[in-house]
Amino acid sequence: MGVADNVVRAPAAARPTPVPNPAALAPLLDVNGVTLQYKTRDHLVTATYRVDFQVFASDRFILLGPSGCGKSTLLKAVGGYMKPVEGHIALKGREIDRPGPERMMVFQEFDQLLPWKTVKQNVTFALTASGKSRGSAAEKQALYYIEKVGLTKFADSYPHTLSGGMKARVAIARGMAMEPDILLMDEPFAALDALTRRRMQDELLRLWDDTRFTVLFVTHSIPEAVKIGNRILLLSPHPGQVKAELNSNGHDEGEEGERLSDRIHALLFADSVEEEPVHD
Ligand SMILES: Nc1ncnc2c1ncn2[C@@H]1O[C@H](COP(=O)(O)OP(=O)(O)O)[C@@H](O)[C@H]1O
Ligand SMILES: [Mg+2]
Repeated sequence: MGVADNVVRAPAAARPTPVPNPAALAPLLDVNGVTLQYKTRDHLVTATYRVDFQVFASDRFILLGPSGCGKSTLLKAVGGYMKPVEGHIALKGREIDRPGPERMMVFQEFDQLLPWKTVKQNVTFALTASGKSRGSAAEKQALYYIEKVGLTKFADSYPHTLSGGMKARVAIARGMAMEPDILLMDEPFAALDALTRRRMQDELLRLWDDTRFTVLFVTHSIPEAVKIGNRILLLSPHPGQVKAELNSNGHDEGEEGERLSDRIHALLFADSVEEEPVHD
């Protein structure tokens, strides 16, 4: 075995958790005892109940749970679009009380881009409208991230000429170009066909390898959670409560990934068993 054998990169599948440095020991995002409710005319819907979790720098933190368990609501609250009725949410120690460019949102919908602006203009507009940068600096920054998602050739195309996967890439480029402290992704690939979805998951991991951004990623897909996440918060429904927090190494294949999937299935299954009537 030569010396070179020691420097061969670990395969992409085995993604080591970054070694923490002292500055990274404080959580970037602290969600503490958060209860979120919707008040409609006739009802009070408790979407989440006393949810706790902490996201650290460079985490790929997953909120996983069945539809209706309050994942989007939690993300909205972190985004600053909704206030907890109980508990606190803080970013870098500061309470979140409004939306801000340090928390960029990427949604599942394909129509989150401005249809009358090109790819480049969509990304540039986010930078200029938020005051993040201006003029040629904004354009340069936009093109840098458009290149990162492999869309350089389509920089001057309009959204309606792009496929779903390409639109998702533009939305990711726009989010990343803002260089937020945390990227909030709400089922960003859920509306894509299975093959494109897998490709986008791979691309997101490649981008993460490249820039080590922090992402809070919502999904109801167990394989997606196991593949994307380094940490997975499992939520139980009605109202959404923390069921478990699991570590993952970001493999969707192999024994370890399978074990983790099985564990998540078992935890979700335990829920439905509890709901069965007890006969004795
Ligand atoms: N605008 C709203 N008004 C009233 N109830 C809502 C509203 N949005 C979501 N809910 C309710 O809050 C709960 C959580 O919803 P949501 O956060 O969208 O779940 P998820 O994203 O996990 O599917 C559900 O019971 C849903 O019906
Ligand atoms: Mg949702």
